[in-house]
Amino acid sequence: MKALTIGSMNIDHVYSVNHIVQPGETLTTSDMNIFLGGKGINQSMALAKAGATVYHSGMIGEDGEMFLDACKEYGVNSDYIKKIDEKTGHTIIQVDENAQNCILLYGGANQCLTKEFVDDVLSHFEKGDILLLQNEVNMLPYIIDKAYEKGMKIALNPSPYDEKLSACDLKKISVFLLNEIEGGQVTGLSDPEEILDKLLELYPDAQIVLTLGKDGAVYADKNNRYSQPIFKVKAVDTTAAGDTFTGYFLAGLMSGMEIPDILKMSAKASSIAVTRPGAVGSIPYRDEVIKALEEQ
Ligand code: RIB
Repeated sequence: MKALTIGSMNIDHVYSVNHIVQPGETLTTSDMNIFLGGKGINQSMALAKAGATVYHSGMIGEDGEMFLDACKEYGVNSDYIKKIDEKTGHTIIQVDENAQNCILLYGGANQCLTKEFVDDVLSHFEKGDILLLQNEVNMLPYIIDKAYEKGMKIALNPSPYDEKLSACDLKKISVFLLNEIEGGQVTGLSDPEEILDKLLELYPDAQIVLTLGKDGAVYADKNNRYSQPIFKVKAVDTTAAGDTFTGYFLAGLMSGMEIPDILKMSAKASSIAVTRPGAVGSIPYRDEVIKALEEQ
């Protein structure tokens, strides 16, 4: 079984600030770094670092060559990444003194996917393979319909949540991975248990993972519910914490681990990621996560 992510690649411009800039304010930043990011590639990297066989697909511009190098370095297959005559997606990220962030996203090449491109990529995958999606590329409704027709198992991280998702047939999703804010946006509710109840009412055969920030994460399917507290650490940058959790969770599912063990491993991996700056580079390898769990 192999995993495919059709997802974003962003050049993250990360600014350290003492607080998130306010409307009308000009704020001097104390540091600035450029990292590889994008929810799609972050999650592919997390899958690969967790030990899964993963293919990443999406589009970059001439300025995105470093994503191909990173795929090689971290063991992500990049055969279905296409270079086009557009700017690679980028973000402007502010990280404050409490490691909280806010993100401005420019889609660029991530928003240039075509039906032909999607058809070609999916032709290399088959029934039972996993498809992982986020909401940072265009064509999501088409991708979901075509992958479902093929019998692929589709996991969706509906992030960032916006009205484009309403065009997707979410009944075709097998695994939802979302945070409590996105859970609230999908269901109109705020209590985590009620969000889970509502999602299961809407999608009774799905597996649902709801991350709750400092309150950890909860998992639900029609038979089981589990919760997982966070591992407390001194965070320096929370960017890609959710992406790390998502990649580790799916890798755990693919390898047949029990859900409580997957949740524990994913929470540990995220807790390590937030102690490091950046996105792709902050995600730990499986061995490091296992060692950290053993030392607990
Ligand atoms: O989830 C974190 C990611 O969101 C960042 O790497 C940034 O590129 C945005 O897409």
